Amino acid sequence: MAGGVVGVDIGSSFLRAVEIDDASKARPTLLRAHEVPLPDGSVKRGEILEVHTVASAFKRLWSAGGFRSKEVALGIGGQSVIVRDFAVPRIPLAQIKESLPYQVQELLPVPVSDAVLDYYPIGEGQNESGPIVNGLLVAAFKQAVSVNVTAATLAGLTPVSMDLLPFAMTRVHTLSSPTSGFAVHMNIGANATSIVIVQAGVPLFVRIVPAGGDDATRAIMTRLSVPRERAEALKRDLGLTGAGSTDEERLAAEVIHESTSELLTAVRNTLAYFAGVRTGVAFDHLSVAGGATRLRGLASALAESTRISVVPVNPTAGVSVARSMRGHDSNEQMQTWITAIGLAVGSAA
Ligand SMILES: Nc1ncnc2c1ncn2[C@@H]1O[C@H](COP(=O)(O)OP(=O)(O)OP(=O)(O)O)[C@@H](O)[C@H]1O
Ligand SMILES: [Mg+2]
Repeated sequence: MAGGVVGVDIGSSFLRAVEIDDASKARPTLLRAHEVPLPDGSVKRGEILEVHTVASAFKRLWSAGGFRSKEVALGIGGQSVIVRDFAVPRIPLAQIKESLPYQVQELLPVPVSDAVLDYYPIGEGQNESGPIVNGLLVAAFKQAVSVNVTAATLAGLTPVSMDLLPFAMTRVHTLSSPTSGFAVHMNIGANATSIVIVQAGVPLFVRIVPAGGDDATRAIMTRLSVPRERAEALKRDLGLTGAGSTDEERLAAEVIHESTSELLTAVRNTLAYFAGVRTGVAFDHLSVAGGATRLRGLASALAESTRISVVPVNPTAGVSVARSMRGHDSNEQMQTWITAIGLAVGSAA
């Protein structure tokens, strides 16, 4: 598909969009980027709960961001999608896809008829019953897919693609730090942490862990009986490196450490699971993005906990940045748009 397209990342705290000139180009130009906050509770764990609220956020995003294209590349993630390693007898891909509804019910928490199923082959192998294909089964809940589409169409936009959020962010991470070996790509958001393991840039394994930066904020709110704004400010001030000088700060620092250590344990368990299934895996690096990554000291805690070297992501690795973007094109600011860029860039596929 030629022509401009806008990638829109529907997060739990922000609606974020970037416009590129042409997704079919090898190196599209990034023309515009903008974000608007989403009212509390309108999107939860990757699922739109208030479609009209989100539709008006889309409208605000378009008028404030000056986007020209009305074609949007949407994503789906959070608790609205399940990704599982899945091996099937070796038959043509079209046939594999057709047979999915009859094979996957036991893997899903919802009736097969309520899910949109897809399959990404990774490699070929052999088991007791013959040749097999190893791959990833992706099951997205129909309800979540259609509510995303509705939010955009209510705002007068035309959805042209729908991709997995973890795949979208992986696209940018892989361009930023390519390797022929194994790498871990992560996005830590407010309520969801996506973990993708790739080999030579191909996703082998995907997990979406229901944990993120808001866990610490909520824990501070409860334990210290303070409002959200205060809890958020304490978290940002202290991070993992501040000890605090008042009783309140000291307790908050403790809570941040506890909550972060739960997140790190979840990450470690996920990597350990993968290492148990695929022996002899050595990770080249771990790249991480997402708002929660800004927590001071998190990157080094992650490196220490996983024993993998943590590298930053260059958000514009796969695109050229238009002159009109200068002004908010610092690497730090662009970090915010990694998933939206991945959605836009991937929409031609
Ligand atoms: N400077 C900072 N220090 C610590 N945490 C921060 C900082 N800035 C943002 N965060 C945290 O980042 C999180 C939001 O991240 P992000 O914007 O990536 O989430 P989202 O995309 O809206 O949500 P999700 O991906 O989970 O749906 C919040 O928990 C917020 O507290
Ligand atoms: Mg996000």
